Amino acid sequence: MKRPTRVAVFASGSGSNFQALTDAVAEGRIPAAQLVLLVTDKPQAAVVDRAERAGVPVFAFRPRDYASREAYEAEIVARLTELEVDLIVLAGYMRLVTSTLLTPFAGRIVNIHPSLLPSFPGVDGVRQAIEYGVKVTGVTVHFVDAGLDTGPVLLQRAVEVLDDDTEETLAARIHAVEHELYPEAIRLLSEGRVELDGRKVRLRK
Ligand code: GAR
Repeated sequence: MKRPTRVAVFASGSGSNFQALTDAVAEGRIPAAQLVLLVTDKPQAAVVDRAERAGVPVFAFRPRDYASREAYEAEIVARLTELEVDLIVLAGYMRLVTSTLLTPFAGRIVNIHPSLLPSFPGVDGVRQAIEYGVKVTGVTVHFVDAGLDTGPVLLQRAVEVLDDDTEETLAARIHAVEHELYPEAIRLLSEGRVELDGRKVRLRK
């Protein structure tokens, strides 16, 4: 039998998506995956406590301790290689990644974004949707490439914007969808049900 897909999650904040993935793995909903590392650029972030509670090892670094983005990414790559990581899952990791990380993990890095890409990329995807006045926004899980939220789309789900939504109320419904969609995406990836062909992603659910 194939060994479980070894997953590293990268996060910078509260880590509710990290928690959703941890819970899904613990409950046997992603049987072919194992969470082997949390990487964070914010050693004080709440996600670190979540990882410690779940018994997931943490690599926390301060970007300002390094001369460049490439320098800290080289250290991350060394850790990932040591742990034989197969898949990188960005879950609220608020940094661009460079070729130092992208090249060795080509096609093996995914991200979750709180909008229906290509609408509202970058930071504050929920606020951008409220300010624009769209009636429907949503969640996208996509492969990561060198652009800002531009990689091939793996899964998307729509979320209706209500007339009286604030950024907080809409973000809460978007988060609830993220917590279902990301475990589903990681299940599909870990079971080898995802085929990447240029910009097209084919799924065998
Ligand atoms: C999530 O909503 C995720 O979609 C977003 O950060 C949040 C992290 O929440 N990511 C981006 O905006 C990436 N551009 P969490 O820390 O509670 O998982």
